[in-house]
Amino acid sequence: MTAPRPLVAGNWKMNGLKAQLKELTELAQGFDDALKSKIDLLVCPPATLVCPAANATNGARIAIGAQDCHTGVSGAHTGDVSAQMLGDCGATFVIVGHSERRADHGESDATVRAKAKAVLAAGLTAIVCVGETRAQREANEATAVVGRQIDGSLDALFDPAKIVVAYEPVWAIGTGLTPTTADVAQMHEFIRHRLVALYKEAGAGVRILYGGSVKPSNARELMGVKNVDGALVGGASLKAADFLGIAAAYR
Ligand code: PGA
Repeated sequence: MTAPRPLVAGNWKMNGLKAQLKELTELAQGFDDALKSKIDLLVCPPATLVCPAANATNGARIAIGAQDCHTGVSGAHTGDVSAQMLGDCGATFVIVGHSERRADHGESDATVRAKAKAVLAAGLTAIVCVGETRAQREANEATAVVGRQIDGSLDALFDPAKIVVAYEPVWAIGTGLTPTTADVAQMHEFIRHRLVALYKEAGAGVRILYGGSVKPSNARELMGVKNVDGALVGGASLKAADFLGIAAAYR
């Protein structure tokens, strides 16, 4: 099986008012045919901007995603948003289980799995995030932790074509620190084996993104690692020029 088509995904987190949408215009201009032929580009703005972002990128081949969703479709859940609603707005991806949600909202693997299931049921693609803390890495528990998160957050019944896994070491997020390429290679190979165990040959086609302090200056090195099929980018996705600089790793 040939390597999966790379996906470069931006996670704006809780950043961006309407004025931020101008970055999408710049992104569309820089996402030229040469790059389009090689990678998929995705931006996940806050929920308030999913609809206008999808309208703004319509036709530019830039996908729009959300950063979270509820496990249900509709009902008495004040303040929550369902995957179906996000899809209705033009989202085609939803990030689930980001470490900030696992930490800030106590999301368990079971919750993440239920959210991923809801994303797939809505016909969208789920980006399932996993990653160890610094203490877990120092205690040599990184692979055990990530293995547990994969097993608990995915389901053998999921359609592997609608799943993306993002490996994001918690200690690398927003810190400027990144694992060595050897550590990234080791973890991505471990995740690949887990995916193949779950989904057989189709597991080889699931994209495994690396996330955590990806920037234009380290993107080429990180994206060049075996089994790294793209990036999930936080801070450096807020400026189109930086995000395009990361995507340029695939030129
Ligand atoms: P960062 O965030 O690129 O700012 O480190 C990555 C993420 O949390 O997805």
